[in-house]
Amino acid sequence: MAKEESKTFGQTLPDWKQFIYNPRSGEVLGRTAKSWALILLFYLVFYGFLAGLFTFTMWVMLQTLDDNFPKYRDRVPSPGLMISPKSDSGLDIVFRTSVSSPYDKYSKALDSFLQPYNDSIQGAKNVLCTPGLYREDDESKKKACQFNRTMLGQCSGTEDTSYGYSNGTPCVIVKMNRIIGLKPEGNPSINCTSKKDNGVQLLYFPDYGKIDLMYFPYYGKKVQATYVQPLVAVKIIISSATKEEIQFECKIHGSRNLKIDDDRDKFLGRVTWMEGKGE
Ligand SMILES: *[C@@H]1O[C@H](CO)[C@@H](O)[C@H](O)[C@H]1NC(C)=O
Ligand SMILES: *[C@@H]1O[C@H](CO)[C@@H](O)[C@H](O)[C@H]1NC(C)=O
Ligand SMILES: *[C@@H]1O[C@H](CO)[C@@H](O)[C@H](O)[C@H]1NC(C)=O
Repeated sequence: MAKEESKTFGQTLPDWKQFIYNPRSGEVLGRTAKSWALILLFYLVFYGFLAGLFTFTMWVMLQTLDDNFPKYRDRVPSPGLMISPKSDSGLDIVFRTSVSSPYDKYSKALDSFLQPYNDSIQGAKNVLCTPGLYREDDESKKKACQFNRTMLGQCSGTEDTSYGYSNGTPCVIVKMNRIIGLKPEGNPSINCTSKKDNGVQLLYFPDYGKIDLMYFPYYGKKVQATYVQPLVAVKIIISSATKEEIQFECKIHGSRNLKIDDDRDKFLGRVTWMEGKGE
């Protein structure tokens, strides 16, 4: 042992050279060309077989999948709620009652949010459906239902293009996230409550904040490319005596399987009033 260690690098170098290529036996790294070729062939066949097996298993699995429905779900999750207009800090509408109130960022956001719901677009792309019925027969699977923005009444932006932001009765629009295959039970509706119930009145469009069952189930983008989620608009009317910060939260009511128990899932919003003195 000690003897070997005492060998200098100059002495071991020829050994190494011979190991890398041995001119006498024709061996490279201790193996002949034929031996190397056999090893290479073995690995080629071996990995080829693995790749083939993987591809085959993948193919068999894909045959069992439907493009439109997730195959495995332990439960259909409850959809979260989204709200528009949205500012950087969630929904936090700051108001000034002065004439110069900078509300057009809110109305612009709602304009673009509602654009796909234009009556003309809905009339051209989607079909009229029967209220209260799920869309389950083969024909209706392919056609999405109309939701016209005019169904949002005073919050549709057609008559009042400021959506109430110019006169202190702001509209917010609530929508449920899309979930493929979800069939809400019962009579779902959006219900918002204000922490300060004194002097705050909420107006819902459509009436009672109702979400019609005819918009369900959703069959996915591939089949229903023009699908739009049903919306509920809420107009917040605050009596002039209560011009202060209003906090409200919106939830889905009236449907067992859309119940939102989790505090994270309910929507919280805030409307802040500031008496108009400019900035
Ligand atoms: C949508 O409707 C509004 C008013 O109803 C109109 O001003 C706007 O041009 C329409 N947009 C499209 C793309 O049809
Ligand atoms: C939506 O608007 C279009 C065009 O005005 C109309 O034909 C259609 O009946 C409306 N649909 C609903 C559900 O109101
Ligand atoms: C909304 O919820 C409140 C409190 O849970 C309830 O008192 C009220 O009746 C509900 N309104 C609607 C329209 O469901």
